[in-house]
Order: sequence, then C-alpha cells, then structure tokens
Amino acid sequence: MTRWLRGGGGGLLIVAVGLMAACSSKPSVPAWEAANPIEPLPTPPLGINSTFSELKDPPTPARVRLGRWLYFDPRLSKDGTVSCATCHVPADGFSMRTAVATGIRGQQGTRKPPSFVNEAWTLYPFFFWDGRAASLEEQALGPIANPVEMGNTHAVMVQTLEQVKGYAPYFQEAFGTPGITKERVVHAIADFERTVMSGNSPYDRWRVNHDESAVSDAVKRGYALFFGKAECSQCHLGDNFTDSRFHNIGIGWDAATKTFKDEGRYAISHQDADRGAFKTPMLRDVALHPPYMHDGSEATLEDVVEHYNKGGQPNPWLDPKIRPLHLTDEEVHDLVAMMKALTGDTRTSTKVVTSFPQ
Ligand code: HEC
Ligand code: HEC
Repeated sequence: MTRWLRGGGGGLLIVAVGLMAACSSKPSVPAWEAANPIEPLPTPPLGINSTFSELKDPPTPARVRLGRWLYFDPRLSKDGTVSCATCHVPADGFSMRTAVATGIRGQQGTRKPPSFVNEAWTLYPFFFWDGRAASLEEQALGPIANPVEMGNTHAVMVQTLEQVKGYAPYFQEAFGTPGITKERVVHAIADFERTVMSGNSPYDRWRVNHDESAVSDAVKRGYALFFGKAECSQCHLGDNFTDSRFHNIGIGWDAATKTFKDEGRYAISHQDADRGAFKTPMLRDVALHPPYMHDGSEATLEDVVEHYNKGGQPNPWLDPKIRPLHLTDEEVHDLVAMMKALTGDTRTSTKVVTSFPQ
C-alpha cells in the first residue's frame, strides 16, 4: 500500500481500492480456500480411454475440492498425526517407497499401500489386495477405523470435523446441506481419488500418438515381450495394466512350513483356489514406488521380472499362467525399461494441500 501511495497515480488507486472494498460484501477468501480452489474436473490424460460421464455417479468439482482437504487432513486420525497421504504419497505415485505402511504411534502394518491412480474406472470393483471392499467409498472407511492405520472411530472422526467450523460451508457446497456424516466424508474422498489419474507417459506418446522418438528401442522390445513371449498381459491388461482379478504368483510362500504368511483373497472368499492369491496391481507409475508386491518383498523391477523368469515361487496354488520364461538378461532389462516408460504426468498429484479449514 505504501508503495502505491508514493506513486504518481496514488490518489486514483486509493479510490479504486476503496470502491472494491465497498462493493464486495463477501469477506476475503480464507487462506485454506485460496490454497485449494474449486477447479473443473481434470481431463483424463492420453492413454486413459474413459470419461467421467460414463460413471454412474461422476465426481463433482465441489466434492473433489472437499475430498482433497479430507485426504490430506491428519485430523481424521485418532491422534491427528496420520492422513491418507501419509501412506499414499502423491510423489510416490500415490503409494509409498517402503515395504509396509506405518500408521499412528509408529505401528507397522503387514501390507504395502497400493496406488489408486485411474481407479475411477476399474474393470471389476475390487479394492484392497484381497478385494474386500467393493467401492472407493467403502474402501476409505477402512483405514480411518483400522487400529494400526488411522486408529479412529467413524463417530469420533465426524465429531472432530463438526468442531472445525470452517468445514461446514464446504459440506454445504458439496452436498447441498452442511451436515457431516461418514458417508459424505468418504464420498468426497473417493471423488478426489477418482480425479487422480496417470497417463501421457512416454509409452502413451509412443503407442497412442505414434511418436517413435518418445521411447527407446529397449522399451519397444520390452513391449513386444510384455504382450508376447513373457505373457505379462495375461493379467496386466487394459489402460491400467490390471485385470482386477486375483492370482497366486507365489509371493509370501514359506517352503519350509508350506504355508503363506498372508492368505490373501482366501481370507475373504474361503475358496481353496484363492490361497495366496492377491489382486493384480496396476503398472502405471510403478517405477515410482519400490519395493514391490503385497508384502514389499521384491526390491526392484529387475527382481520382479527375475521372479517371473524363474516361474514364480512354486506352491500348490500357483496360477497355471506362471511358468519359467527363459528370458535373457537383455530381455529382463527390456521389460523393466517398458515398465519405466509407464510413468505419467499424474494430473492431480502436483497439488499437496497443507492448509485446512479451521
Ligand atoms: C497407515 C497407512 C495407510 C493410511 C493412513 C491409509 N492407507 Fe490406504 N492402504 C494402505 C494399505 C497397507 C493398503 C492395502 C491394505 C490391504 O490390501 O489390506 C491400502 C489400500 C488402499 C486402497 C486400495 C487400492 C486398490 O487398488 O485396491 C485405496 C484406494 C486406499 N488405500 C485409499 C486410502 C484412503 C482414501 C485413505 C484415507 C482415508 C487411506 N488409504 C489411508 C495404507 C494406508
Ligand atoms: C497370473 C497373472 C500374472 C501374470 C502373468 C503376471 N503378473 Fe505381475 N502381478 C500379478 C499379481 C497377482 C501381482 C501381485 C502379487 C502379490 O503381491 O502377491 C503382480 C505383481 C506385479 C508387479 C508388482 C507391482 C507392485 O505395485 O507391487 C509387477 C511390477 C509385475 N507384476 C509385473 C509383471 C510382469 C513384467 C509380468 C510378465 C513377466 C507379469 N507381471 C506377469 C499377476 C500377474
């Protein structure tokens, strides 16, 4: 202000500023709102051949904005220290770079946090490694009340949010009335998640836009192997490179005791064939979040391909699609190069919200 007053046109500016103040009846935008403005839905990037309008209940900009706050807000956890983003880190492709997750009071879980990019359009509605949730909404209820993750109860979470006066207007904006319920909280978070997409990777620029210079020859050879000799596409298929189905590839099998540390899908389905079976993970952005598998037991993508190359870990429930591949070292390298070319410019990962309604 003082700088303006010294200038030649200062008088005019004062009048203009005065008029603006008089005309605007709204109080100025709070800092948290300026940090998280309402935005149009992002456009699905190159390589993602889906649209929001094909969803039964497409996300709305107001729900996405609210969901972004809730996703990053540690007040949803029992002791205010852990948010969804603690374990699903935007810079790590919405997964994280450790084998298993650490929740409140430093407690360790037993499974790796998977990514959820492009999951607005899953082939089958199975969420978690064992598919126990049928929607992103149902999924989001889990970690809030999981004692080793966010350690809260849904009722206390709702009470905590009700005490934050600044949240009510955004629930009003998103749902038409200011009431806060657990259903609304997870609906908003799920809508935010639906806008987390990854595409426009070097792979997409080559395959979709036919830009031959977008990828190396190694990637092109890796592509031929992935869909050919190595037969990865038996399970890793579609825009997101997953069949959303469950397979046993031998991870976590203890040959000495002949048991799995984690029975995976079997604990949900109680079908013998599902012992040691886990949901096929997507491969977009996979290079961003080593180590790999439900237990983080494979350190690098090279290790993953070597696991397949030797025919997985034999066990009575091994998926018949898994068998020795006889890949050369160069072919292993080419497959890894192809997977590294799947790192996209994730559209909504750039914004990490740190300013919340008060
Ligand atoms: C303490 C770490 C931690 C926190 C906090 C956490 N998650 Fe997770 N998340 C995980 C782990 C571990 C899994 C896999 C668990 C399993 O499969 O049993 C998972 C699974 C998921 C999945 C399933 C993806 C798929 O393809 O199956 C989604 C989506 C997800 N979390 C979203 C969220 C949301 C939303 C929040 C906040 C409400 C959240 N997570 C909080 C660790 C965490
Ligand atoms: C029979 C189905 C099937 C086939 C064939 C298959 N995969 Fe997988 N893939 C899976 C499943 C299931 C997992 C998760 C297993 C687990 O965690 O227990 C997985 C995990 C992975 C992971 C780890 C991703 C992460 O986020 O942790 C990578 C990378 C991968 N596969 C790449 C490949 C490649 C490359 C090929 C071909 C050489 C291949 N897959 C063939 C089903 C399959």
